[in-house]
Amino acid sequence: MDSIGEWLALREDDGRAYILQRNPGEVKIKGLGRFDPYELLKGFSIGDRIKIGQKSLTMVKPSITEARRNMARRAQVIGIKDSGFIISWMGIGAGSRVLEGGHGSGGLAMNLASVLGSSGTLISAELRPEHAEVGIKNMERLSEILPEFPKWEFHHGDLGGVNDLVKKTCHELDAIIIDVAEPWIIVDKIIPLLRMGGKIACYCPTTSQLEKSWIKLEECGLSIEWSGEMIERRWSIASKGGVRPSNTPIGHTAFIIIATKIALDEQE
Ligand SMILES: C[S@@+](CC[C@H](N)C(=O)[O-])C[C@H]1O[C@@H](n2cnc3c(N)ncnc32)[C@H](O)[C@@H]1O
Repeated sequence: MDSIGEWLALREDDGRAYILQRNPGEVKIKGLGRFDPYELLKGFSIGDRIKIGQKSLTMVKPSITEARRNMARRAQVIGIKDSGFIISWMGIGAGSRVLEGGHGSGGLAMNLASVLGSSGTLISAELRPEHAEVGIKNMERLSEILPEFPKWEFHHGDLGGVNDLVKKTCHELDAIIIDVAEPWIIVDKIIPLLRMGGKIACYCPTTSQLEKSWIKLEECGLSIEWSGEMIERRWSIASKGGVRPSNTPIGHTAFIIIATKIALDEQE
C-alpha cells in the first residue's frame, strides 16, 4: 500500500533514519537532499530497499526509535540510555500523569509520549521560545507517527509556574522530571502537585547540581530512593573473532536522583 500522506522511515543499515511523508511536492530532507517523495517512492512500499543518491535504505514503518534518531535538536537532549531508566524506575506507563521540563528539543518528552498511551497526560514546560519551537515540532510529528498519543499540554514559561495548568488538566501528578540547570529553585513550587507516592526525578549533569537537588528534596520531606548515573558500555565483534568491549569511550551524561512523596505524620 502506498497511500498519499503515509508516514515512512528510510533507514540506513547502521540505524540512522530519515522520516518523511508520502506527499507530492519537493521537500528537503537533511542527509538525503531534495526530492518529491510521492514521485521518488512510487512503487516502493514498507520492507523494500531503495537507493537515494549514494545511500541504500530500507523503508520501514516509523516508530519512536526512528523518530528519536531523526529528531531536530537545539538544546542538549536526554538520550535513551537515561530516559529509558528514568521512565521505568519511576513506574511511568499507560495512563500516567507526568510533568516534564525544560522541554528543550523534546527528547525525554518523546519517550514519555511513547509509553503514556492515549489515556496518559503529559505536561511540558519550556522557558525559551526558540527551544520550545524545536521541541513542539518533534512532538507534533511524533503524534502523527505513534498509534496512540497522550493528552499533551504545553506551558510556555517557567516550570515553577505550572500549577494552574496542572490543576486544570489532571488535578495531580504521578511523576515529575526536572531537566533544568537549577532544580532546587523549582522543586518546592511543584511538589504540592505530586500525589502521595508519586515520584520526582532531577537530571543533574554535575555533582554540585546533584548535591543541591538532593538536599532540597530531603528538606521538602521526600524520600530519596535512587541516585547515581547510568553507564553504557558497548561491545563489538573483533576483526580476529570474539566479542569484546569496543573502543567507544564510556561518556558521562548526568547524575539522576529520584525521590518519592511520602506521608510525614502518622495518624493519631
Ligand atoms: C537540557 S535542556 C532540556 C532537554 C530535554 N529534557 C530533552 O530531553 O530534550 C534544558 C532546557 O530547560 C530550559 N529551562 C531552563 N530553565 C527553565 C525553567 N525554569 N523552566 C522551564 N524551562 C527551563 C532551557 O531553556 C532548556 O531548553
